[in-house]
Amino acid sequence: MAQTLLFRQTSGKLWMDGAFIESDKAQISIQTHGLHYGSCVFEGERAYGGKIFKSRTHTERLKNSCKLLGFDLPYSVDEFERAKRELQEMSGIEQAYVRPVAWRGATQLGVSAKSNTVHAAIAIWQMNTYFADKMAGIRLTISDWRRPPPVCAPVKAKAAGLYMICTLSKDAAAEAGYNDALMLDYEGRIAECTGAHIFFVRDGELHTPSAECMLDGITRATVLEIAAARGLAVHERHIMPDELSSFSECFIVGSAVEITPVNEIKGVAYTPGELSRQMVEDYDALIHGGQLG
Ligand SMILES: Cc1ncc(COP(=O)(O)O)c(C=O)c1O
Repeated sequence: MAQTLLFRQTSGKLWMDGAFIESDKAQISIQTHGLHYGSCVFEGERAYGGKIFKSRTHTERLKNSCKLLGFDLPYSVDEFERAKRELQEMSGIEQAYVRPVAWRGATQLGVSAKSNTVHAAIAIWQMNTYFADKMAGIRLTISDWRRPPPVCAPVKAKAAGLYMICTLSKDAAAEAGYNDALMLDYEGRIAECTGAHIFFVRDGELHTPSAECMLDGITRATVLEIAAARGLAVHERHIMPDELSSFSECFIVGSAVEITPVNEIKGVAYTPGELSRQMVEDYDALIHGGQLG
């Protein structure tokens, strides 16, 4: 099951450091700190019918990611929200992926970078669905790479550097014929996929790994809201891989993948059932402006 669209902006305007410019004219210095030392954070957001879902929550998380990496986003939440809104309107793209990014610039290239400038940009491109036929379910393998503990990395930041192991994991999964990889944490517990959180179903109840060494997912929070509205029990807890075969359904959740059912994790089979289908439908209603309950 291939991704249907290129995951990047190829033409049109983007927003950079306060101005709207043609994307092929946007340039950064080769001595950019974010490029050499990973002082770069980003967001991944979706617009449906021209409206970005949970836009403000994403901007607040972006500002917090900057803080966790020791710098300030030089825009207020309101200013950044306006930039996103104006870019979306200017682009005319109704079904969009929106990629804000902030990074330390090129005025101080060394490990210490306190006096560096901070830059920000927002790109936007057409995106309908991440997986071509998501209800068919996807296949996951288990990565050899593990999520680091909170004492080894700023795990709550959506930091570019934390994606190094995600890229290695996802590329290895694709080479082995899988759609994505499930990553364990430093203790060998189930953590998340390379760009999504994971939920399991057993006896009509949801189980999901506790998020102490992962990003606080905006879709994960939305799934918890849906579960509360539907009166579903949710167990946020440590889950070991030997439990995988005890679950009946599994789905991954994220802004890009939305809610995508899983039909295999490295030899363990799942059949997307009623609960997964209902969750996909409820999420779909919410992103298109519907209400819960
Ligand atoms: C590693 C990782 N986990 C989980 C998620 C899901 O987070 P969200 O629902 O906020 O998009 C993402 C996507 O941003 C991610 O990159």
